[in-house]
Amino acid sequence: MAIALTVNGQPRSLDVESDTPLLWALRDTLGLTGTKFGCGVAQCGACTVLVDGEAMPSCIVPVSAVAGASITTIEGLAAEGRLHPVQQAWIDHQVPQCGYCQSGMIMAVAALLARQPHPTDQDVDDAITNICRCGTFARVRRAIQDLARS
Ligand code: FES
Ligand code: FES
Repeated sequence: MAIALTVNGQPRSLDVESDTPLLWALRDTLGLTGTKFGCGVAQCGACTVLVDGEAMPSCIVPVSAVAGASITTIEGLAAEGRLHPVQQAWIDHQVPQCGYCQSGMIMAVAALLARQPHPTDQDVDDAITNICRCGTFARVRRAIQDLARS
């Protein structure tokens, strides 16, 4: 049975098994490969997308659980030809190294700042649990602090 949802503002109908993880529906069915696979068990955050504005690990969310929802992936974060402020801050602070974890990291930070524009360091520690194997955490922190001040 086709599953209807909105992805990056576009209505989509996915003809996939209902238990297909959202990550694979996005990557394999829709070709949105900006969302990455890391651990597959909701630990690393590489697969983070927004579901109705909330950050979620798409590797463990069955696509049937998000039927009717609005999904935003890294491909849909920039709007009207302008980078999202988190993307711009990532460039300004040269956050990524290999970049593999970064789409998930950026989505998690975008969700945090949307609900809490001026987070404390503790708020950041609590909300941003994404793992970066390159160890860019200091740059991530500087970029978020910059965004929180602006
Ligand atoms: S791949 Fe989903 S949290 Fe690691
Ligand atoms: S930038 Fe390489 S894993 Fe995070």
